[in-house]
Amino acid sequence: MNKWRVKSLDSILATAEKKSLARSLGAFQLTMLGIGGIIGTGIFVLTAEAAQLAGPGMLISFVLSALVCGLAALCYAELAAMVPVSGSAYTYSYATFGEILAWIVGWALVLEYAVAASAVAVGWSGYMVGVIQNFAGITLPVELVNGPYAGGLINLPAVVIALAVTWLLVLGTKESATVNAVLVAVKVAALAAFVALAVPAAQADKFVPFMPLGVTGAISAASIIFFAFVGFDAVSTAAEETKDPQKNIPIGLVGSLVICTIFYMLVGAGVIGAYGAQPVFGPAGEALAPGSLELAEQCKSYAEATLPVVCSKEALAHVLRMIGHPGIGNVLGLAAGFALPSVVLMMMFAQTRVFFVMSRDGLLPAALSKVHPKYKTPHVVTIITGLGVAVSAAFFPVGQLASVSNGGTLCAFFFVSLAIMTLRRTDPSRRRVFRTPAVWLVAPLAALGCLLLFAFLSIEAQMVFFGWAAIGLVFYFVYGRSRSNVARGVTEVGELSADVPPQGVPPLPGIHTPGGKDA
Ligand code: ALA
Repeated sequence: MNKWRVKSLDSILATAEKKSLARSLGAFQLTMLGIGGIIGTGIFVLTAEAAQLAGPGMLISFVLSALVCGLAALCYAELAAMVPVSGSAYTYSYATFGEILAWIVGWALVLEYAVAASAVAVGWSGYMVGVIQNFAGITLPVELVNGPYAGGLINLPAVVIALAVTWLLVLGTKESATVNAVLVAVKVAALAAFVALAVPAAQADKFVPFMPLGVTGAISAASIIFFAFVGFDAVSTAAEETKDPQKNIPIGLVGSLVICTIFYMLVGAGVIGAYGAQPVFGPAGEALAPGSLELAEQCKSYAEATLPVVCSKEALAHVLRMIGHPGIGNVLGLAAGFALPSVVLMMMFAQTRVFFVMSRDGLLPAALSKVHPKYKTPHVVTIITGLGVAVSAAFFPVGQLASVSNGGTLCAFFFVSLAIMTLRRTDPSRRRVFRTPAVWLVAPLAALGCLLLFAFLSIEAQMVFFGWAAIGLVFYFVYGRSRSNVARGVTEVGELSADVPPQGVPPLPGIHTPGGKDA
């Protein structure tokens, strides 16, 4: 056994070869796939949090986080095409840096996926509360729709959606190609309607002051709004099923990111120009953190008709209502309520599959990879994940959850950027279906971008990240280190049940998962 317990790429690929998939995806389908994974709570909800940190300067934040994602995406694509098997960043790290770093990356992916699912559930809750109020005239008690951070007890709608999605995942629900196409259309139509109504109403003076909290505020906002771009990895992991991947993968990745960035910029410009997006300050003129009790208190001093966007939990619907389109604002809320649960589902699915692969590698207890006899889903790990997602959605604000999730994602992207450079050196002759262009520029910039955004995450999010990593390391040394397959000399990657797609990411909508049904 090698000192660093690096898993052999050949043994990993031996599994992949048994599962070769038809190459059916073109640039258009890939771009749709990317857009489906990307648009969610980030733009619909976190725009308000970004505004609280950056004001109109959030337009710069959108560009910065899109750039970091684009660079990381190009690195992801090379590895995804070269090692098209389970576990994404976790597996690449196992083959490049060995077990301990792979463990840390896999452990960080829990933050990326499970906590992201909680964030999207909380974002959904904000819109659903608005929908119930505006369509049924029922005002839910504030104590039951907010966590303690906003003076409530529990965010019940977020718990309900997390548990409902868990139940669907235990039953084996997968998004179909048609459902994905419909949801992409709903999300894009909602954003397009917003842009069409808000941008023409924009006034130049609303953009001043442009960066009320300076460059620091704009970068901090980028580190939160980064969440709005996560999800594009669906494209990279489809490499194996892509026609002419060298051409189509970068088109799919860059295409979906560029389209979403343009949309986000227009939406941001609409929010700022039509209604205004200046931060709310405390009584002494101090900056208030998004999601804080102090901000929630300050927001209570506004009447609904003058509520700043940074105080709204349904930012885009609120802006439309305020600029004279209440009906369309309510319909936009309904569209978000309809489309966001699929993002919760994608994230939770991804989480269960990462746990599954880690358990299969012997790093987590085997009980976690138990498959339900009737539904053929990893029900144990799904229920544990669902309970974790529900508890964090119950008590934490969306922005903090998104920041914590970003910490995990940035860690995974960082190691992917390092892995691609390392493998170019250590394994230069291996066949690369897709080669990252200008890799010695793109990969270091991606790694630096990840470090920059990480450095600007909130202190709380950074502490959660390091605390989580420390717990993970203790667990690794107490449990996984002696039990891992690599430690025990088992090198062959085991087969997954036919109905459990061996992806470290969600089953790709509209794609045949190996051995599974047409997802
Ligand atoms: N990008 C996804 C969202 O914003 C995770 O919900």
